[in-house]
Amino acid sequence: MNDFIAGLPKCELHLHIEGTLEPELKFELARRNGIALPYASVEEMRAAYAFDDLPSFLGVYYEGMGVLRTEPDFYDLAMAYLRKAASQNVRYAEIFFDPQAHTSRGVPFDVVIRGLRRALMDGHAQLGVRAQLIMCFLRDFQAEYAMATLLESLPYKEWIVGVGLDSDEKGNPPVKFAEVYARARQEGYLLTMHCDVDQENSVEHIRQCLDEIGVDRIDHGVNILEDPELVQRVIDKGIGLTCCPISNSIVTDSMKATGIRKLLDLGVRVTINSDDPAYFPGYVQENLQALELSREELLQVQRNAFEITWLPRHVKEGYLAELE
Ligand code: ADE
Ligand code: ZN
Repeated sequence: MNDFIAGLPKCELHLHIEGTLEPELKFELARRNGIALPYASVEEMRAAYAFDDLPSFLGVYYEGMGVLRTEPDFYDLAMAYLRKAASQNVRYAEIFFDPQAHTSRGVPFDVVIRGLRRALMDGHAQLGVRAQLIMCFLRDFQAEYAMATLLESLPYKEWIVGVGLDSDEKGNPPVKFAEVYARARQEGYLLTMHCDVDQENSVEHIRQCLDEIGVDRIDHGVNILEDPELVQRVIDKGIGLTCCPISNSIVTDSMKATGIRKLLDLGVRVTINSDDPAYFPGYVQENLQALELSREELLQVQRNAFEITWLPRHVKEGYLAELE
């Protein structure tokens, strides 16, 4: 089955580029930028990845990205991911980036986006992996800062396909960003949001995404199973969920595997993705393996994925034809 998965043309729709920063590259960037790291070796650094919920993960994640300072750093980060993606037959990726995690520590927005964009261009030309960027706002910062970031992104609108919302969900519901999302929609961005698994008010957050924000898809969202009426609505509207089984298994007590499979059986457009693979060990291949799905289910997951991509219809159809 692993060979079958390896051979599938794949799609990655839930991947934080900063979450692909492997310890080896972290050391290299630290050396390049003259930054002292509090770990003596790659092994020691990995051993410190001892998180068991979302906030404890986020602490390590934000600390780790402090080594990213210059345009070539962001280029190298994204190229390393795209090489890994190519090795797993990922044909297309929609990649989250967290500009505020960088601007808040003095790295200019244009340094971040120019490095990522250059890598996406080279990744397509050299590795055959197509990719687009989704700009995430950090939900534990003020909505005004998200709005300022949205405005700062406008000169680069052609390089960004949509916006997302991530970071600590507790006390930071979707409606906090209703105005920002309305403006993002006006500017032509597509809309997604994290509804992380087993958070306080998970189901209410999913409802807000659908009713108050009008999202095009939802990141994670597995708790929707607790409300059959919401499940029916995402089925009727064809809204996709970008699920991440290995990440779920670390930030909650269970892999939510049964939930993901149940949603698939019900006809929800479920997809399987890797979230932050340098921290939750496993890229898309390993996440697809983790659920022990049948061949037909795996094909359906990949069909769902290409179907809910934010690509022009004719490009999407080219990928879908490869699955037949
Ligand atoms: N930022 C990076 N990874 C995240 C996750 N899994 N949940 C929320 N915010 C994130
Ligand atoms: Zn995520």
